[in-house]
Amino acid sequence: MHGTCFWIYAYGMSDSSNHELDIDVFGSEYVQEAPKVWERLRSECPVAHTSLNGGGWLPTTYEDISSVAYDTENFSSRDIAVAPTPEGVSLLVAPPITSDPPFHTDARRMLLPYFSPKAVEEMREVTRSIAVELLDAIDPADVVDAAEQYARYIPVRVIGAMIGLPEEDCEMFTRWATDILQSHPEKEWERLTTATKEILEYFDKTIADRRVNPRDDLISKLQAETLPNGDPLTDKHVLGTCFLLLVAGIDTTWSSIASNLLHLATHDDDRQRLVAEPELIPTAVEEFLRAYSPVTMARVAAEDTEIAGCPVMAGDKVFLPFGASNRDPEMFDRPEEVIIDREENRHFAFGIGIHRCLGSNLARMELVVAMEEWLKRFPEFSLATDSEVQWGGTQVRGPRSVPVRVT
Ligand code: HEM
Repeated sequence: MHGTCFWIYAYGMSDSSNHELDIDVFGSEYVQEAPKVWERLRSECPVAHTSLNGGGWLPTTYEDISSVAYDTENFSSRDIAVAPTPEGVSLLVAPPITSDPPFHTDARRMLLPYFSPKAVEEMREVTRSIAVELLDAIDPADVVDAAEQYARYIPVRVIGAMIGLPEEDCEMFTRWATDILQSHPEKEWERLTTATKEILEYFDKTIADRRVNPRDDLISKLQAETLPNGDPLTDKHVLGTCFLLLVAGIDTTWSSIASNLLHLATHDDDRQRLVAEPELIPTAVEEFLRAYSPVTMARVAAEDTEIAGCPVMAGDKVFLPFGASNRDPEMFDRPEEVIIDREENRHFAFGIGIHRCLGSNLARMELVVAMEEWLKRFPEFSLATDSEVQWGGTQVRGPRSVPVRVT
């Protein structure tokens, strides 16, 4: 127990040492430098608080993040968005991620077979052919944006195919996922709600169509599922789950592929080693997941409670930056270093507890295939020196543009 809590200091401000200044978790300073902010907070006030963006607690140690993630009685998943939801706006229901026990178990269990290692293996060659097609379209003479031209198109096409959605709609899905996960909650509320409305309308129509014209796809299979009490899934449940799978499946993995390629574009030794030893790619991918973990989730305190001695009131938001647990020196040796053959690596990029990522097998396969194919095609590449890399966040953090020279 730390027993202390402070208001978040404004990171990087020259006079921040003893002032109660708030940090903006949606501000560019936090988004660009989140690992540095966590490191500093961990040493100064491991359970920090901000009153900006609706307010919330920000634990930064593995112990505190995991204690909240495991404690589903005191911390509910009914609102997992980092962005605040304005008064009077209904929270989205997207089982299982917004479900608490006991319903969570049923909502999750029925999805497991579709994301099992065997089901994911069936998507490996499809994923590879998507990667190869994207690489074929790249002109090596130009500066190539590895995030825009490559990373962003792989996960959307894979999850779109798994759900049973037309490939030509993928560009629209990517825009929706970006608008939902990367909009500033106050400055871009309109953008966020428009995308949410459009995606819900899209699935509403698709689900209604599948009721009449069932297909051999995930939507039709979910419509045929029943809960343990024998009740069929409601259209609202199917819709919420499809929304979740689409949104969770795109930006997360896209961000990871992009940060992995950014790392290799800026670390020649690691790039050369992976070209020479491609069998090391799965191990390196785990280390990149640890070091560049893209996801921060939220919880809502169900009762008055505490985190490591900090009093938390019912209704308070708590942010769970899983990337911060992955850089906790109590858990990892030399956490700030990226060691591509790290042997002990039980990282938390996929979360902790009952909501641990259901798509982790799929994500891992996509990350490995994306890197294998990129390195086969472009073994030599480096960051185009005159360009700046912009990170986007905050719920899903990753480099939005990775301009590289491939010759
Ligand atoms: C690198 C890629 C990915 C990362 C880092 C990631 C991370 C996470 C994290 C941290 C959680 C925990 C949420 C919480 O505690 O509230 C989660 C849950 C989830 N993820 Fe992923 N994810 C990734 C890719 C995917 C993919 C490709 C899918 C496929 C559709 C997916 C589907 C889900 C689902 C359905 C849940 C909810 C599980 C539950 O509530 O029981 N994720 N993910």
